[in-house]
Amino acid sequence: MKEEFEKNGYYVLRNVLTHEEVDRLAKPIRAAFNRGDYDTLKKGPAYPAPGIHSMGPRVLEGNPEIAELSLAHPAIMEAVQELFGEPATLAQYWSIMRPPGAGLGDEPYIKGSGAHYDYKPWRCVGSYVKWMFAVVPFVDYTETAGPLTVAPGSHLETTVLPSDGRVHPVDAAQVPKPHEITLVDPSLKKGDVVLMNGFLWHEPLPNYGNSDRCGLYMKFHAKSSPPACGPTIYPSSVHEVLPEGAKHLVPYHRSDGQYAAVRDGAVGGVDEAQLLIEDSDDKLLVLGNDTDGWHLPRIASTQDETAANQDF
Ligand SMILES: [Fe+2]
Repeated sequence: MKEEFEKNGYYVLRNVLTHEEVDRLAKPIRAAFNRGDYDTLKKGPAYPAPGIHSMGPRVLEGNPEIAELSLAHPAIMEAVQELFGEPATLAQYWSIMRPPGAGLGDEPYIKGSGAHYDYKPWRCVGSYVKWMFAVVPFVDYTETAGPLTVAPGSHLETTVLPSDGRVHPVDAAQVPKPHEITLVDPSLKKGDVVLMNGFLWHEPLPNYGNSDRCGLYMKFHAKSSPPACGPTIYPSSVHEVLPEGAKHLVPYHRSDGQYAAVRDGAVGGVDEAQLLIEDSDDKLLVLGNDTDGWHLPRIASTQDETAANQDF
């Protein structure tokens, strides 16, 4: 597994979930899309209209038991941590629903035109240097329904440079033009899980069929590779339901409903930001008074109302 993953940038765990387990995982997620309880509801025509509808960790609040079929599924957790060589942290829990017609517009579709990778140095999800996807398809990703295609070896085009003692600069690759990129279909079937290096180029193809194409898109980062900003906050109910050996996957959680989600606007996350200011002699700036004692410079945080995604 490790050799193939490092060479190709992805590895498919075949048949690691039974169809019954996938259905049990998909049930509350499909139900949430059906009743309009998802993050992108206000972004365009609602499901089941064609579009790319998606949902963050909100589904875990009332259905924390699905954690053991997904992020903490032993086969998934073990594979992710074996490939990292260290403990993992859940970085994203994202369900994507692509009904018939999703990905098709007025212009003819050109394969490769949507190829990309998810490295986003300014965002909580994506600003890691050691990270991967674990995608659980709820249906067969057939040629008709829209495969999740990948460019084998493309993760090697991006280089994580040595640390300066604080950060690792990233020499980020540019994705080639559609006719210059080779995308392959890993033939994902219901029950399979694909693990993908975070720097791998990929593209979901349009849904030409007559049934929904949906799945769960999780990201994990290595414990030693935190996001540049963040963390993502999850509902406490998921942390509570995890067995002892998996609780470390969800270290940041809240029980007051203020986890990462978009409802009428972005909600959830971090209440206060603190600044670490250090000079060249390693001296830290701290403020102090008689009431609070010494503390770092700090400020109450507010939501960015223009944020399209609540992944921070
Ligand atoms: Fe992507």
